[in-house]
Amino acid sequence: MKTVLITGANKSIGFETARQLLAQGYYVYLGSRDIEKGEQAVSQLRAEGLSQVEAIEIDVNQITSIQAAREALGQKIKVLDVLVNNAGIGGAMPQTPLETDITVFREVFETNFFGVIEVTQAFIDLLKESEEPRIVNVTSGLGSMALHNDPEWKYYSVKPASYVASKAALNAYTIVLAYDQRFTSFKINAVDPGYTATDFNHHSGPGTVEDAAARVVKAATIGADGPTGQFFSDDNAPETGVSPW
Ligand SMILES: NC(=O)c1ccc[n+]([C@@H]2O[C@H](COP(=O)([O-])OP(=O)(O)OC[C@H]3O[C@@H](n4cnc5c(N)ncnc54)[C@H](OP(=O)(O)O)[C@@H]3O)[C@@H](O)[C@H]2O)c1
Repeated sequence: MKTVLITGANKSIGFETARQLLAQGYYVYLGSRDIEKGEQAVSQLRAEGLSQVEAIEIDVNQITSIQAAREALGQKIKVLDVLVNNAGIGGAMPQTPLETDITVFREVFETNFFGVIEVTQAFIDLLKESEEPRIVNVTSGLGSMALHNDPEWKYYSVKPASYVASKAALNAYTIVLAYDQRFTSFKINAVDPGYTATDFNHHSGPGTVEDAAARVVKAATIGADGPTGQFFSDDNAPETGVSPW
């Protein structure tokens, strides 16, 4: 049975990703920075008959929490097949480049960028034990630097400074990580779930968590002949599904 760890999976896109991977037979470690919320999410899934799931406490902003989660998981399993770096924040809005306080930039980068790196580094040894390891970095279409320079792009005027920069940095990390692992069986990709109605945006997005999670799941379960080091975004590239960086 394949195993997956999803950060920020107690609700929204992360939670739905857990549900869909459970339905595909994966054993899910449902990451939550608040263990009570994680246990509640697990109870909900079990009530739906999805039983191969347990909560794991992990706050991606706290290295001690990441290390404790790694320790706890290492006592349960020797192989992790999939890591979904889903936990993310938008940060206080508005985010103009000149007026936004540096603390907002630091907070957003702490979760969306440094947190992903620390979690990935902490769990990479368990992932390397998998025959087909997969890492999905949940990014945003707003992380595309190429499209931010295209006045024709539908989100051209949407430029929350720290969020955009953090996801562009995450994209860059995805590229260098995929390159680093290019001679292995790893598939490491960035996935934009699309503008989705969740607490993240006060449910303003037009997309559903089901569609968003399906995009994440597609990359999490990608086959041995699938791509690595790609930026998947149905929103940015409806025809190809592959966004420019
Ligand atoms: N929704 C969209 O339109 C959209 C579009 C593009 C990309 N995304 C990306 O998709 C991902 C999920 O977004 P969402 O819409 O599901 O957001 P959400 O509803 O705000 O949920 C975010 C999840 O991340 C968790 N989280 C936040 N900071 C954390 C930390 N330091 N450690 C561990 N967990 C933490 C939250 O936990 P708590 O419940 O404890 O707060 C929650 O479980 C994010 O990376 C976001 O940037 C979303």
